[in-house]
Amino acid sequence: MLNSGCARSPTTRTAPASTTRKENKHMTIEWYPGHMGKAHEQIAELVRRTDVIIEVLDARLPVSSANHLLAELRRNKPCIKVMNKNDLADPAVTKAWVRTFEKQAGIRALPLSAKQHREVNQLTKLCLRLAPTRGKPGRPLRAMVVGIPNVGKSTLINTLAGKSLAKVGDKPAITTSTQQIDLRNGIVLSDTPGLLWPDMRDQVAAYRLATTGAIGANALDYTGVGLFAAEFMMRRYRELLMTRYKLTDLPDNSTALLEQIGRRLGCLVAGGEIDLHRAAEAFLRELRAGKLGRVSFEEPEQAVGDSVGPEEMVGEETRLT
Ligand code: G4P
Repeated sequence: MLNSGCARSPTTRTAPASTTRKENKHMTIEWYPGHMGKAHEQIAELVRRTDVIIEVLDARLPVSSANHLLAELRRNKPCIKVMNKNDLADPAVTKAWVRTFEKQAGIRALPLSAKQHREVNQLTKLCLRLAPTRGKPGRPLRAMVVGIPNVGKSTLINTLAGKSLAKVGDKPAITTSTQQIDLRNGIVLSDTPGLLWPDMRDQVAAYRLATTGAIGANALDYTGVGLFAAEFMMRRYRELLMTRYKLTDLPDNSTALLEQIGRRLGCLVAGGEIDLHRAAEAFLRELRAGKLGRVSFEEPEQAVGDSVGPEEMVGEETRLT
């Protein structure tokens, strides 16, 4: 049995039974971060007072973790797409994303891990290069940090500032108010964590976000998301699955795979049956922590709503609201 085990997550809460249809493996995921309603006006106002926009994305899913409203609101302001959590993403896929993003006017892409000071220093340098008339005494470079919850905005700000300023936590949308942070290197940051939200109308994107943990834990149907993630991994990263779970071959469906993983991780109930819910939780926990290896859930030619995700698993009943 593998070490990471099959402990219950204290934050897990499945949606009420009334939100599910029995014939489907997935439950409805509900996620209503109320304070995000004013995002549009606030961001538009901030953009006007900003020289460089720092858009934080999850490198593993740079399209699903973006909010396309920002493209409209950004006007012609330079924008750095920080592909954060690069330590967890597939390096070859990340490279392809950088090439793709940098074809767009005014966009630079920078993969990094927000916890690594050396990598984050590259961001400071890039900001100053993009606004060469700023960053001088009396004319600070005004940068804003935007992104959906849980992509690592607070972590990035803390590393940039060199101390703990923004609260980091495992719950999305933990920071709701705007702060100004003088980095004392010519840059003043306007920090707006939580002001953007993912596009929940796209079901595949929503399941990808749930796979990485970007959607609030209380909204999760772990089994459905676990099956989605298992199916994706079977299609795209077979070797990683077989190595991590010491499998000589993979079964032909995601339920059987989760059962095998559950057995390996000791997710059993009385009588030796597999507890599929706990198996899904344990599998997602491992996947998110990078225990299987570096994985990307989107490639440039296969972005949101296309064939990468198992579309058939995301039916009408599973609309994410
Ligand atoms: P947010 O402000 O955008 O909502 O995100 P936040 O910084 O709170 O980060 C969300 C989670 O992502 C945190 O984990 C944080 O540690 C993790 N994280 C941020 N940047 C990186 C990165 O570059 N690589 C990796 N692997 N993880 C990153 P947590 O489990 O919620 O909290 P904790 O582990 O810090 O206690």
